[in-house]
Amino acid sequence: MAKDKTLYTCSECGGTTPKWLGQCPHCQAWNTLSETAAPNAGSGKNRFEALARSAPVTRLADIEAQDVQRTPTGQEELDRVLGGGIVPGGVVLIGGDPGIGKSTLLLQAAESLSNRLKVLYVTGEESGAQVAMRAQRLGLSGANVQVMAEIQLERILATIAEHQPAFVIIDSIQTLYSEQLSSAPGSVAQVRECAAHLTRTAKASGCAMVLVGHVTKEGALAGPRVLEHIVDTVLYFEGDTHSSFRLVRAIKNRFGAVNEIGVFAMTEKGLKGVTNPSAIFLSTHEAPVPGSCVLVTLEGTRPMLVEIQALVDSGGPSPRRLSVGLERDRLAMLLAVLHRHAGVACMDQDVFVNAVGGVRISEPAADLSVLLAIQSSLRGKALPRGFIAFGEVGLAGEVRPAPRGQERLKEAAKLGFATAVVPKANLPKKPIEGLTVHGVDRIEEAMGLVRGL
Ligand code: TYD
Ligand code: MG
Repeated sequence: MAKDKTLYTCSECGGTTPKWLGQCPHCQAWNTLSETAAPNAGSGKNRFEALARSAPVTRLADIEAQDVQRTPTGQEELDRVLGGGIVPGGVVLIGGDPGIGKSTLLLQAAESLSNRLKVLYVTGEESGAQVAMRAQRLGLSGANVQVMAEIQLERILATIAEHQPAFVIIDSIQTLYSEQLSSAPGSVAQVRECAAHLTRTAKASGCAMVLVGHVTKEGALAGPRVLEHIVDTVLYFEGDTHSSFRLVRAIKNRFGAVNEIGVFAMTEKGLKGVTNPSAIFLSTHEAPVPGSCVLVTLEGTRPMLVEIQALVDSGGPSPRRLSVGLERDRLAMLLAVLHRHAGVACMDQDVFVNAVGGVRISEPAADLSVLLAIQSSLRGKALPRGFIAFGEVGLAGEVRPAPRGQERLKEAAKLGFATAVVPKANLPKKPIEGLTVHGVDRIEEAMGLVRGL
């Protein structure tokens, strides 16, 4: 019976067929058809005209722009990534590896919001008792948090309509299923359908909603990328589950700045915000060691110091290039630049690069530190004590300036760093107390300079 309500839609061309096929009959692409709910077919031309009359068109200038009202979640670091708090009708997607702390953070936020708003926590992964156990462990009273263990979309929508909560948490979107589709929970079709329905409900009722999403091995949110388009805000939980630090990064935010990050520490009593995180990604060596270079990275509005480690070791006939927390393709490119422009060859060497603490670094300003760490490991010679570097390295071997260099340098000086190698354009106008700054234009210049330090 459910069958006639579904269609198979091609993800390449959007064409539909009533049956599943291996190849799309419209664009001939393979394996692109997935199940979707068929739209309610109307009856011809009359319906079309009626619809056009019912949809109002307004001049943009006549629409009153309202400032969004933000309700702080009580978790300062979470509010920072959200852009100040939750927004009525706003939908947030939060992704991350299993066990990283998504449910913990949301339960803590739910508790503090429940003092002001009506909160509904929908759990599809755990039973109500498990959620209660976590609340107890976190020391939360849960007096005003409504919990519902349910995975059927239609029942959840009905409950939202009846209880009219102002804040809803769906943990997780991959466990939900809609009666409309016959595919299993977690399939692309189900995830997309459920997310679309929930988003529409949030917009229509003005309740703020958080969807928890799972992450695939490659680090992307499981299910279609479409999810990221549907929602207003996309947050990613990052960090090494073996260390206690967790980062929440905004990669899309219709109500705030992107690339802002919140830093948390996982403790016995749940996640605690770290308000001054600049030095948590440094490992503590007693004396400087080869293959380590500290980078000042600027994530969002706060500079942070992160240690970049490199290990260069003789490899086999096809040497390996591995990186943790940094892009591997960029590493290959940087090694080529290092060879061609600075004459440092790693052709027959395995090269491993790691950003300490499970932090993921996407900004190109990390390039110079990566190369300095690699050279240091190759020579077996440590960089001087209290050394930092940042700067983007281009294919022509030039070292390009990083945004807001002054702030980065000041943060390093504040933490007691003494020597910096930075792009020439980032040289400070006034000397910074306690910090000797060397400006470089080219990668070979940087390599030569460091050899002499
Ligand atoms: P959880 O929030 O269940 O992760 P997710 O929903 O992202 O899968 O986090 C569970 C992990 O956090 C688990 O390994 C135990 C740890 N934890 C603490 O260390 N302290 C705590 O107070 C809580 C509740 C969990
Ligand atoms: Mg969970």
